[in-house]
Amino acid sequence: MNLGKLLFSLSTALDFTYRGLANHHHQVAYVVLAIGRGLGMDGKDLRRLCCAALLHDVGAVTTGEKVALSKFEVGEPFEHCDRGRRFLADVPQFAFLGEVLATHHDRWDGPNPSGFRRDGIPLDARIIHLADRLVVAMGDGAGDILARRDGILGRLRALGGRVFDPVLVEVLGDVSVPESFWLDLEAGDLPALLQEQAGDLLNVRIAPEELPGVAGLFARVIDAKSIFTHRHSNLVTRVAVELAARCGLSGEELLEMRVAALLHDLGKLSVPEGILEKPGKLSPAEYNIIKRHTYYTYHILRPIDGFEKIREWAAYHHERLDGAGYPFGIGAAGLDLGCRVVAVADVFAALTEDRPYRPGMDRVRVAEIIRRQVQAGALDPDVTGVLLESIDDFTSLKEL
Ligand SMILES: [Fe+2]
Ligand SMILES: [Fe+2]
Ligand SMILES: [Fe+2]
Repeated sequence: MNLGKLLFSLSTALDFTYRGLANHHHQVAYVVLAIGRGLGMDGKDLRRLCCAALLHDVGAVTTGEKVALSKFEVGEPFEHCDRGRRFLADVPQFAFLGEVLATHHDRWDGPNPSGFRRDGIPLDARIIHLADRLVVAMGDGAGDILARRDGILGRLRALGGRVFDPVLVEVLGDVSVPESFWLDLEAGDLPALLQEQAGDLLNVRIAPEELPGVAGLFARVIDAKSIFTHRHSNLVTRVAVELAARCGLSGEELLEMRVAALLHDLGKLSVPEGILEKPGKLSPAEYNIIKRHTYYTYHILRPIDGFEKIREWAAYHHERLDGAGYPFGIGAAGLDLGCRVVAVADVFAALTEDRPYRPGMDRVRVAEIIRRQVQAGALDPDVTGVLLESIDDFTSLKEL
């Protein structure tokens, strides 16, 4: 398993909107690589910088926050910075990036909540700040990027020495001379270009046991989106792993189950909170937006080598045995035990949790609805049988 590939893919989820993908984290990573190389950075330093860029806005969880950050002048940027630091603190592989995330909007001449100024601000954070605002300034207008490039650089230069490190603004001017710099940033295949540029930089092996930690970071972002889902990914994970073990999965498959369950709703990052928290019935258009989430989960996980099973277990959780599920309409023949386990765990967790339009249900009602879904041809009778037989055990997982 390759940490770089994993981060390239998962970071695309941070830029989701219901209109599909935006490329913000990849664009910022592309620019920081250019500035970093312009400064003579390489090896471990460049790797750390690139990882931080791929995750820099991980703390921006709501659509409102993302919209605010897409404006050139951000009023209150520090909340998402600090939340990002807190998210990373729980992930051993990334905790060391926390300070950079916390300071990636620090102004060169202060004042900043961190108390840092000038060279006291971590270099990675200064680079990401400049790269991030460059990318935002590019989106802040329309028309030929080559005609606009001087205006954009001028806007950043005017803030050199006050908002941005003036040396870095100079370096950016140098590395952005080739037209290809700007055209790459707008290219549809930027993810592929970025991976070429990064080369071996992110070719870091990560052990299978480390995967749940990384997946857990993204689960936290998903769950933080709404008070109604604030523990959903974690509850589904506890239920799915326990259920999988009782259905006979073991060893590495249980680890894969943990990762799949943590990431099952990754595509939900595309759903605006207004829809997730709507107290009444969803309109057909809103329901269509929700239904896209498993399609997105599948496609974010698709390019990751070694995730063949994980992406199916994660993304098929709204498929049904009778083939009437979404988004692929896969029937029983295409749904293995792992897929069936995640589907049951997701339904069970959702029924027990509060929703904006109803409170969480008690176990009698939950069992009744699950049985009905088996009869209707949605859920697997054997897997649900294992769950219903010990429903008290599974219900108590909610209290952990
Ligand atoms: Fe940011
Ligand atoms: Fe950003
Ligand atoms: Fe879902």
